[in-house]
Amino acid sequence: MSHQQIPRKRTFLMCSPEHFEVTYAINPWMDPAVSVDRTSAVHQWGRLRETLVGLGHTVHLLTPEAGLPDMVYAANGAFVVDGTVYGARFKHEQRTAEAQAHQAFYETHGWRYVAAAETNEGEGDFAYLPEAHGGLILAGYGFRTEPVAHAEAQEVLGRPVVSLRLVDPRFYHLDTALTVLDDRTISYFPGAFSHAAQRVLVQLFPDAVIADEVDAFAFGLNLVSDGRNVVLNSAATGLAAKLEAAGYTPVPVELTELRKGGGSVKCCVAELRH
Ligand code: ARG
Repeated sequence: MSHQQIPRKRTFLMCSPEHFEVTYAINPWMDPAVSVDRTSAVHQWGRLRETLVGLGHTVHLLTPEAGLPDMVYAANGAFVVDGTVYGARFKHEQRTAEAQAHQAFYETHGWRYVAAAETNEGEGDFAYLPEAHGGLILAGYGFRTEPVAHAEAQEVLGRPVVSLRLVDPRFYHLDTALTVLDDRTISYFPGAFSHAAQRVLVQLFPDAVIADEVDAFAFGLNLVSDGRNVVLNSAATGLAAKLEAAGYTPVPVELTELRKGGGSVKCCVAELRH
């Protein structure tokens, strides 16, 4: 018998895909030859936002900028823990300018913003579990974020950072292969990680929900959970069933257009943690 999980109200940051397009390819999902239906992208993104608001969460908006088509993936702009913002420094020059837009948002809203010296893509490669081991940061490297940024994040945020090596280019950000379900529980696809990283995850999270390759390929792990309600890509039906069996409530959303950029639910949502 599974028990019912307890939700917690969240504050999120999102950015409308008004300027979304796929004109370059910086991950294996992107193909500039495939056409994007931007009207549909905006509509699907709007449904995601309404879903989060409908669950009682606060969603702040970042103003989208022309020429920054990946800005919709707001998770990559920073990583916020205990009211401190560790800013992003993007790997690819096509996205570099996004970091300033996030910085301006945080500074105008009174957050303590710390600019990064090292390459890192914010919540794309960093995750936080407030109640695991007293407050633990998980961090991915191998494709975007540099391992030295993990050490920098630990210095800035004062929480232990566990480095995990990603090995499959389809899962180029941590948030494509691992997700936080509640304050102490994760779900992940082991095949995206090095053997050593898999051992570390088993040691730290023996009760994790293990996702399979089909779940991960459907972008199922790229989800947003409030501790009970799990907003995830509607294509990830297998993972939804597993989560339901574990006591969570899956809330499927359709995000087919944004998948063309190599992202889904979590990529579109940054969490602001006081
Ligand atoms: N096209 C974007 C990139 O390759 C997608 C980012 C997805 N975001 C994420 N948090 N995984 O950078």
